[in-house]
Amino acid sequence: MRTLYWENNTLFLLDQTKLPLSVEYISCRDYRQVASAIRTMQVRGAPAIGAAAAYGVVLGALAYEGQDTERLVAHIRRVAQSLAETRPTAVNLFWALDRMLKKLSQLQTSPSGDIIRGLLAEAHGIYQEDLAMNRRIGEFGNSLVPDKATILTHCNAGALATTGYGTALGVIRAAHEAGKDIRVYADETRPLLQGARLTAWELMQDGIPVTLITDSMAGYLMQQGKIDLVVVGADRITANGDVANKIGTYSLAVLCRHHRVPFYVAAPVSTIDVSLPCGAQIPIEERDLEEVCRVGNQRVAPEGVPVYNPAFDVTPHYLVTALITDRGVIRPPFDQGLAEALKGNI
Ligand code: MRU
Repeated sequence: MRTLYWENNTLFLLDQTKLPLSVEYISCRDYRQVASAIRTMQVRGAPAIGAAAAYGVVLGALAYEGQDTERLVAHIRRVAQSLAETRPTAVNLFWALDRMLKKLSQLQTSPSGDIIRGLLAEAHGIYQEDLAMNRRIGEFGNSLVPDKATILTHCNAGALATTGYGTALGVIRAAHEAGKDIRVYADETRPLLQGARLTAWELMQDGIPVTLITDSMAGYLMQQGKIDLVVVGADRITANGDVANKIGTYSLAVLCRHHRVPFYVAAPVSTIDVSLPCGAQIPIEERDLEEVCRVGNQRVAPEGVPVYNPAFDVTPHYLVTALITDRGVIRPPFDQGLAEALKGNI
């Protein structure tokens, strides 16, 4: 099942708001549809958002009807800006848009056909590189997974959150493919239930044993010694190794420290943001309060109750056992390791 793909100048997105009850693709021919799909989380997960936005830029370029190259370039920059305004936390979105804009700068004096072809090639590059990075994350991460391990994960950092294979679920997939007898506990991940709707579904499709729990059950399982390791994805990793990820990740990391369970974060280099020294600087998205008041379409909270809905939290670097990147496993001190990873030195 492809999370997103490009065909006939159209971007197809698997509508993740409908999963697992129905498998439907949205066809986008307008960049505004892509922006809306990112905002409403029909496509979600840091690397998938980045790849979708890259194709969104191409759709914006294709829709331009004038002949003037300078105006085309200005139009594409505006398209990229509106895609950048969809979700603030996952840095992969800005990483992908920066790549597209760099490509645009290289091509800005070329004929418009060359500009569009160049941008499409760059978007395909982002798509393919993400897939390859996830495979490498899987290989590196597999070395940290003992046979017969029981692994807890949060949210969905799987094929559905990337262009394929997944980051945290890439590690789990690689261990399963290596023949290890692993099992997974998936946190349901309130309020939008990415764990219940997406991770449980994705792992079941691959025949990887998965048990669904509510978020508040994780501590009880660790107390009973039932969890060997936790692996999660990331939306942004700052220069010191602080990690923004789905709300609830920090609580898990604290539980891991208390119960001496390794806490791993799996992410490609496109998630690393060394421009920010630490996690306090990461913009944390706050989403519609209705998400907390409802489970699916069912309202569960009293009308008028004050609600707070931050979509992400920040886990401080000192709670992270290791970062599993496509360049290798980074252990503390993370600042050195991250800088070396970005230079390609590990
Ligand atoms: O709000 P979402 O569903 O986009 O949040 C997704 C996560 O927090 C993932 O763990 C993260 O993006 C990593 S995906 C490989």
